[in-house]
Amino acid sequence: MDITLNETQSLVQETARKFAGADLRPQAASRDESAEFPLESLAKMAGLGLMGVNIGGEYGGAEAGVVAYSLAVIEIAQGDPAVAVTMAVNNMVSEVIQQFGTSAQRERYIPRLTGGEYSSGSFCLSEPGSGSDAASMRTRAEKTSDGWSLSGAKAWVTSGAYAGVLLVWAKTRNTAGLDEISLFCVDPKADGVAIGKPEKKMGQHASNTVSIAFDKVELSDDALLGEPGQGFKIAMMALDGGRIGIASQAIGIGLEAFNQARAYAVERRQFGKRIADFQAIQFKLADIATELEAARLLTMRAAWLKEQASRPFSREASMAKLYASEAACRACDQAIQILGGYGYTREYPVEKLFRDVRVTRIYEGTNEIQRIVIARDLIRQS
Ligand code: CAA
Repeated sequence: MDITLNETQSLVQETARKFAGADLRPQAASRDESAEFPLESLAKMAGLGLMGVNIGGEYGGAEAGVVAYSLAVIEIAQGDPAVAVTMAVNNMVSEVIQQFGTSAQRERYIPRLTGGEYSSGSFCLSEPGSGSDAASMRTRAEKTSDGWSLSGAKAWVTSGAYAGVLLVWAKTRNTAGLDEISLFCVDPKADGVAIGKPEKKMGQHASNTVSIAFDKVELSDDALLGEPGQGFKIAMMALDGGRIGIASQAIGIGLEAFNQARAYAVERRQFGKRIADFQAIQFKLADIATELEAARLLTMRAAWLKEQASRPFSREASMAKLYASEAACRACDQAIQILGGYGYTREYPVEKLFRDVRVTRIYEGTNEIQRIVIARDLIRQS
């Protein structure tokens, strides 16, 4: 793996960095207070190619690859983590349609997702009673004479109230009468779709998270994405890629906390000198920077492997997500410690970062699930 960035990767990184600095960071605290969904910023990001970084140019994507995508999420997360997760889910939804959709589905949905006509797409896998055990879902699509009838309930749907298309996983029955899992593209405005109230979360207030109920929603045959029964594998493959996105988001949040803590440490004076001159603070800064760099390398490796498309990268993606989210949580915690009492107030951004980062150890598979994915792969290889 070559760890120097090519021209495209550097350009995407720089574009995202400038946008995060000029457009996102200055508004992040007020967006957090108002919990306002960042419609305008997302439209601008679509214009910059950030809503489909690893999507083909024919569908309006930047066609810049997975490493560039990860670099972009790291930068956007430094500006506003809530915007980064919205971006990451949109990219993931677009990639699922690109990889498994028919040409009609690709042409219908992807340019709208990458070009900003849709503010976002949504990934509807989890349910009130089915989280880590994704295969235990109860949402069901019954075959009808001219399509499907979808009923059930999904939970924790990122961007669900603003999505242009919902990817919905549901149980279906195969010709032998056995249950399997299939995937459908659902119009959020269809009759029978009810979008719930936004969840009141600890952090990432400007990202929208809702439950969605489906009551006998009529779907045509061409709503099926991929083959019948292929849904679970598609979900797992999508989450392998999604976990690179969450690892990247966590790194961005950790880096932002580090930068805030370092800036404070060189300004703040106690006992007649800068607190950055005390070894207690220096060791904290050194540990945060080292762990985030290790997380970055793990994440770049997973992104690079995905880009090669030569072998599965589940283990590496799970390692990246596990390590990056835990390192970023430690970074935010230590950043608050460096800022002392000020870090515990909303006057300084580390309080928000601490709230924003916590969920990276939970969503797109809890870190306990990441350990299961890693361990199963290690045992398989033995
Ligand atoms: N790629 C391809 N296929 C895969 C796969 C992968 N990464 N992982 C599993 N599969 C296949 C298996 O090979 C197996 O296929 P066969 O039946 O042909 O053998 C099938 O899928 C079932 O696999 P498992 O037996 O491993 O399934 P399991 O029920 O034991 O579950 C799990 C495995 C890893 C625990 C899985 O349920 C899981 O990932 N759970 C976490 C769910 C999750 O991450 N949810 C996040 C929600 S989305 C979200 O948070 C987004 C957001 O909005 C931010």
